[in-house]
Amino acid sequence: MAIAFTVNGQPVSVTVEEDTPLLWVLREELGLTGTKFGCGVAACGACSVQVDGALVRSCSLPVGEAAGKAVRTIEGLKAADGTLHKVQQAWIAAQVPQCGYCQSGQIMAAVALIEQVGTPSDAEIDAAMTNICRCGTYPRIRAAIRAATGAAAAATAASVPAEQGDA
Ligand code: FES
Ligand code: FES
Repeated sequence: MAIAFTVNGQPVSVTVEEDTPLLWVLREELGLTGTKFGCGVAACGACSVQVDGALVRSCSLPVGEAAGKAVRTIEGLKAADGTLHKVQQAWIAAQVPQCGYCQSGQIMAAVALIEQVGTPSDAEIDAAMTNICRCGTYPRIRAAIRAATGAAAAATAASVPAEQGDA
């Protein structure tokens, strides 16, 4: 059946079974491969996107539940003129990614957190950022979120102890 919604502000309509995971519609039907498949069971967060402003794990959301809603993916974070989102800029400055596989999901989770609470505390970051990174970039993720919110303008990779940042 045809299911219509918007992705990054653009209207789309896909003809798929309504229980098809949103992740596969984004990747296979719409070519938006920035959203990654990790576990497929809502455990790792690699597939994180926003639906009507709420952070969701798209591997476990039937596309039928996105009908009529606004989906936002990593591809939709940058401004119309190509300027990267402040979280993406902070990620680059802090040199967060290692293999990079989890990072689009991490960034989507960070954007949702900042949009929800403004300037999160370390405790709020630790509580909210439940995405898994097998490269252990967690200290740099925290530093980048703090930098993006102005909580610690000097929070860069240089301020992260090597034994934590280079796991
Ligand atoms: S692939 Fe969706 S949470 Fe892991
Ligand atoms: S950067 Fe490799 S899994 Fe997170």
